[in-house]
Amino acid sequence: MHETKRIFYYVVKAVDSLYSEFRAVDNLVACNTSRILKAFQRARVGSHHFGGSTGYGHDEAGGREALDQVFAEIVGAESAIVRSQFFSGTHAITCALFAFLRPGDELLAVAGAPYDTLEEVIGKRDSHGLGSLKDFGVEYREVPLAENGSLDWEALKSALRPHTKCALIQRSCGYSWRRSLSVDEIGTAIKIIKMQNPNCLVMVDNCYGEFVEIVEPPMVGADLIAGSLIKNPGGTIAPCGGYVAGRKHWVEAAAARLSAPGLGTDCGSTSGDIMRAFFQGLFISPQMVGEAIKGTLLIAEVMASKGYKVQPLPRVPRHDTVQAVQLGSRKHLLAFCEAVQRSSPVGSFTKPIAGTTPGYASEILELLYNSFRYFLVKMSSKMPHRLRMRIVIFADGTFIDGSTSELSCDGPLREPFAVFCQGGTHWTQWGLVLGEVLKAI
Ligand SMILES: Cc1ncc(COP(=O)(O)O)c(C=O)c1O
Repeated sequence: MHETKRIFYYVVKAVDSLYSEFRAVDNLVACNTSRILKAFQRARVGSHHFGGSTGYGHDEAGGREALDQVFAEIVGAESAIVRSQFFSGTHAITCALFAFLRPGDELLAVAGAPYDTLEEVIGKRDSHGLGSLKDFGVEYREVPLAENGSLDWEALKSALRPHTKCALIQRSCGYSWRRSLSVDEIGTAIKIIKMQNPNCLVMVDNCYGEFVEIVEPPMVGADLIAGSLIKNPGGTIAPCGGYVAGRKHWVEAAAARLSAPGLGTDCGSTSGDIMRAFFQGLFISPQMVGEAIKGTLLIAEVMASKGYKVQPLPRVPRHDTVQAVQLGSRKHLLAFCEAVQRSSPVGSFTKPIAGTTPGYASEILELLYNSFRYFLVKMSSKMPHRLRMRIVIFADGTFIDGSTSELSCDGPLREPFAVFCQGGTHWTQWGLVLGEVLKAI
């Protein structure tokens, strides 16, 4: 049989074998869509909410307020702020962390190292005096993950100190080879944290987790959650933005960090086009998340059957929209990403090149660091900015720049050369992409 045809049938067979898993995803989509629909109806969302505003945004016709109300209800929070002015997930998470933390407080990351872009926010990596939490006198500690990649429950039971003001829980795996957390596990962690210190506030990095389950972290006690609208809750339509949701006072504090104390949540203009996209994107988000989850199930099935290590394992319930595959070599990682880019609707004619990305540490720096630890600690502050960035490869032939709710993949060029796949408006596109990938590697 012709090679292309043989690969096509291989993928089709994997799809056929996933019938019951796909059916379960449809049920999840129905459940979350129903919750969203009710929230839209209760807030009486109408076309007048899509008008947007200019300048200070004071003459806004209620769209901003309705969107915040709808979002808060959907995630089970008292309050929410959903804004185009959040640049990204990192920005929204940063506003939430700065809302909670004051000099002398401690931030405790309870699910191992947080996502790479938070290193400079925390001051784990030198932010060069630009105002990291560390610069403001906030201490930082991590509870490493257990050997099996889950939370270290025993260590967590005695991890808090009297000045631990905020516990950070990252729901999704990020660039770590670890299990993503279920909302149930997050709820258990919150109970353990609050038992030790009821005043310790819990912040959940909710990126990639929204609508993957029928519950969200505020429903199990998270004080704040934050995320990006060019990931799950933007439904592939929101062109920018992010959100913070949770307890009212803390949402207001995060809003004050986004804008200024005193301006509250009633400021900030957003064009009408964007307001409509936010509402529409949020409404179809569960469906897009469902497509992405089906994509992850298919990737895991196909790549594991070809002998690659995958995380999560095939057919296990998903807790985020990310599927990691260990490709074992730089060559294979590049080939995978190139195949994804070739199969994309936008920029299919371009070749992704590993590059430097703001917020990510440098591969060069890491290599040097491991070899000349002492020397580098002294030198790092003098390094040119380019060298302080990690080499990450991104394949995102997406309509919205960097949107990872659309089909995309990326990975840092470091051992074990894992590619992190996510998003997709149709799982069938992942089927086509996998055909290309199998040919390429
Ligand atoms: C778990 C997690 N948190 C935070 C972020 C940062 O989000 P953004 O790229 O929107 O800043 C990412 C990005 O992929 C992530 O995976």
